[in-house]
Amino acid sequence: MTTDIILETQQLRREFGALVAVDNVSVKIRAHTFHSIIGPNGAGKTTFFNLLSGNLKPTSGRVLFKGRDITHLPLHRTAHLGIGRSFQITNIFPNLTVLENIRLAAQALGRDNFHFWRRAHHFRRYEERAAAVLEQVGLAKRADTPARTLPHGDQRKLELGMLLAPDPEVLLLDEPTAGMATEQVPELIDLIQSFQAAGNKTVLLVEHNMNVVMSVSDVITVMHYGQVLAEGTPSDVTANEVVQEAYLGTLYGDVAAEK
Ligand SMILES: Nc1ncnc2c1ncn2[C@@H]1O[C@H](COP(=O)(O)OP(=O)(O)OP(=O)(O)O)[C@@H](O)[C@H]1O
Ligand SMILES: [Mg+2]
Repeated sequence: MTTDIILETQQLRREFGALVAVDNVSVKIRAHTFHSIIGPNGAGKTTFFNLLSGNLKPTSGRVLFKGRDITHLPLHRTAHLGIGRSFQITNIFPNLTVLENIRLAAQALGRDNFHFWRRAHHFRRYEERAAAVLEQVGLAKRADTPARTLPHGDQRKLELGMLLAPDPEVLLLDEPTAGMATEQVPELIDLIQSFQAAGNKTVLLVEHNMNVVMSVSDVITVMHYGQVLAEGTPSDVTANEVVQEAYLGTLYGDVAAEK
């Protein structure tokens, strides 16, 4: 693990009318770490991701990627720089096959997709990339299946595959296990952990399942009403009394109540 900062926000703020969804958030994300953002519903986690990825413009503040100011770059530019962003809602092409979805995702960010005289060569490269990613996310046997007929858990794997296809350095995962059956969650999390470690990637994860967060994260940032309430290792955060009171106590209560 290095101490290089790959992504940094400085006093990042986003207002929606009178509401301050992200309130002067300054966070440093170390390269090659698994960094989770937690907080109650409406805490500003998704808005924060939208600001990082260029999907939303901040009211004020800055976003730096490897020291470069990317505050005003739109989503497709941050994607080209190597920031991959998933969404809370499913983003796949239902009538295309699993393989076609992944190939398109790889191709969309290919640097040379307008160089038509080299098209055949690149097409082959994207096919190979798609096949490798399918293998990585455990969907090789489903390559020719139309995406719409995949079980929900496999759709989530496909989304991960689409995100991985262009080989981003940073992955922003917004509730990747949302809507999954409890027994499928560990497999998806193992998958995320394995490509994070094997690819030396930086993963930013928003996740409500505290067992998952506590087991996978190097660092956790706790958001509350748009602000950073606490930050540290899973044990720091678990032991933090303010976090306990504001958030964890009730959440663990909810988790326990579900069982
Ligand atoms: N486009 C928007 N227009 C107006 N208000 C918004 C908009 N997007 C988010 N908000 C508000 O900003 C606050 C933060 O929302 P956000 O979606 O970032 O929270 P979150 O932490 O991701 O919540 P959840 O855990 O439910 O996904 C909420 O009060 C939300 O209603
Ligand atoms: Mg959200």
